[in-house]
Amino acid sequence: MKFSAQYTCPSNIAIVKYWGKYGNQLPKNTSISFTLTNAVSNTKITIEPSESRSIKFSFEGKEKESFLPKIENFFNKISGHIDFLNNHHFIIESSNSFPHSSGIASSASGMAAMAMCLCDIESQMKGTPIDMNKASVMARLGSGSACRSLFPKLALWGNHPDYMKSSNEYAVPVSNDVHSVFDTYHDDILIVSSNEKSVSSTAGHALMDGNPYAEARYEQANNHISKLKGILKNGDVHEFGVLAELEAMTLHALMMCSQPSYVLLEPNTLKVISAIRSFREDTKLPIYFTLDAGPNIHILYPDNIALQVQDFINKDLMIYSPQQLIIQDKVGMGPQKIG
Ligand code: DP6
Repeated sequence: MKFSAQYTCPSNIAIVKYWGKYGNQLPKNTSISFTLTNAVSNTKITIEPSESRSIKFSFEGKEKESFLPKIENFFNKISGHIDFLNNHHFIIESSNSFPHSSGIASSASGMAAMAMCLCDIESQMKGTPIDMNKASVMARLGSGSACRSLFPKLALWGNHPDYMKSSNEYAVPVSNDVHSVFDTYHDDILIVSSNEKSVSSTAGHALMDGNPYAEARYEQANNHISKLKGILKNGDVHEFGVLAELEAMTLHALMMCSQPSYVLLEPNTLKVISAIRSFREDTKLPIYFTLDAGPNIHILYPDNIALQVQDFINKDLMIYSPQQLIIQDKVGMGPQKIG
């Protein structure tokens, strides 16, 4: 029999960062992220019985054989979780809402979308509900941060004493005791460079193994999770922003003091950071930033100051984006079933 499932799955932006892993893609510290709305992968998987596994993959309407090794690798990693992977033909059609030239990584949204489609097909075959823990485990095996993209608003990944249901194997939603201001958060991603990264995230994680500050960093991150739990409850947007910036700067400091050392920030990244900090100093508005493993700036702010912030971005920050590209995103609801 033929089965199919189609989902959009968002990207996410970590506030406390996952940086360093062990074993089978398990995190060295707990991380927490906002699930986004607009930066999504839209993926449809159709399967039909076949003697052995075969895959046809197309991206934005064009067949892409070059992606097949990555997908085969993903399927091999999740083969213990899904039992129809070796006797079906898979037609996978995917696209992203954000431009390829934006330099935004699609691994989190892409892997999360594939995991959701496969779990949905399994639930159709077996007549059972979708197991979100399992979907998150599978997304994690594709790309660590992807496991957090499956839940609305905020998701936490990694065992932590403050979160009873937390696990290193999968992410869990963070919904209790969260102040409503965090439902309104914007994440405007200013693209200062879309060049390919000189060091991938996977290689960056591996360099943490020899980093002399690694253990102190894991402890700091776990303390930040506890601190953030209090902030999420009390809604202090300034404390929230201070912590987000410290996490971003720590991530990049860890890269700079890896052996070999590397820098992913661009001169324009530093100019934008400086402009945001001056604007904040002058206006006292709660506008802060975070960074991924790349040079682009994620500008974080609550909706009640959106007009002032957007005016500031247009007047003072767009000059630092050679492509004049900003991706306006906000906290979102997680995967949506399309078909
Ligand atoms: C800096 O999840 O992309 O964005 O597990 O090797 O696929 P792999 O790495 P990835 O690392 C993301 C690192 C980060 C921080 C975060 O999202 O928590």
